[in-house]
Amino acid sequence: MEKKNLDWANIGFGYMTTSMRYVANYKDGAWDEGTLTTDATITLNECAGVLQYAQTCFEGLKAYTTEDGHIVTFRPDLNGSRMEDSARRLEMPVFPKERFVDAVCQVVKANAEWVPPYGSGATLYIRPYMFGSNPVIGVKPADEYQFRIFTTPVGPYFKGGAKPLTIKVSDFDRAAPQGTGHIKAGLNYAMSLHAIVTAHQEGYDENMYLDPATRTKVEETGGANFIFVTKDHKVVTPKSDSILPSITRRSLIYVAKEYLGLEVEEREVLFEEVKDFAECGLCGTAAVISPVGKIVDHGKEICLPSGMTEMGPVTKKLYDTLTGIQMGHIQAPEGWIRVIE
Ligand code: PLP
Ligand code: COI
Repeated sequence: MEKKNLDWANIGFGYMTTSMRYVANYKDGAWDEGTLTTDATITLNECAGVLQYAQTCFEGLKAYTTEDGHIVTFRPDLNGSRMEDSARRLEMPVFPKERFVDAVCQVVKANAEWVPPYGSGATLYIRPYMFGSNPVIGVKPADEYQFRIFTTPVGPYFKGGAKPLTIKVSDFDRAAPQGTGHIKAGLNYAMSLHAIVTAHQEGYDENMYLDPATRTKVEETGGANFIFVTKDHKVVTPKSDSILPSITRRSLIYVAKEYLGLEVEEREVLFEEVKDFAECGLCGTAAVISPVGKIVDHGKEICLPSGMTEMGPVTKKLYDTLTGIQMGHIQAPEGWIRVIE
């Protein structure tokens, strides 16, 4: 199979229309069998639930070309079960996780020529999503839904790749204590748009959100969880009911303990402690692990000892081990890698 003739090493994190996408429809209480289609356009009624009351959730995962030439995805079952959780919380029908994984495999296989080659630095980003599609005018859940998956080749999420980021402590909140921060609802991202535009205008790369109730604890950013490393090489990651349970973070915790022999603490992290950490990183599918060099709280700078030029040493080890597992040159734990072809 010929790969597309793209400048793989220099693509950014953007959307490109690839060959095929998957679509399944929910009507009269059941999902249809689903199909692949070339049609990238969706036609909706003006009153569709998603357009009026934002009834939509999504997922994000990647396909990789391994060193030995296979196309694989990373833990798609966990994205499938997280999407089930998102659907339940938003009163949407569940698209079963087994069907989710099967649909991911079908759509990646159908776009094999768009999966970036091994060593290019790019990957195929996979975006499953679901939305209420029939007219809804009283505030209530839709009766009909569409589940879709498209794919797009991507490079690094943050411009500059592995260059340490500067983060702003945001004055805005992303998720309420009993709200929807723990699921991947489109509304959470709408909430974060004004905050990220403001942060970018001020020259920051991302926002650090604190817990909205007390503003004393670290939550997450708009699109990634935090990991910190203490001066004695302990990995610390915030625990909160209002952050997205990142699959990358859960995988890194395992890698830190089982591959690198590091101690890991998953617990509430006070903002007050941040100045004492040695390293900080953002972890997520899009972000992989992006190092943080500086965190700014209303003009007060916290400069991580790892500096503004390189990843800290523990962050680098975590990054190399995780990407080594994903690219197939480090043995993966049982069930982590799903071979597509
Ligand atoms: N937190 C938020 C708000 C996200 O959007 C993402 C991206 O999916 C993550 C964390 C990281 O999650 P994952 O590692 O499952 O991609
Ligand atoms: C992902 O990492 O898949 C996300 O959904 C984050 C998003 C901000 C691109």
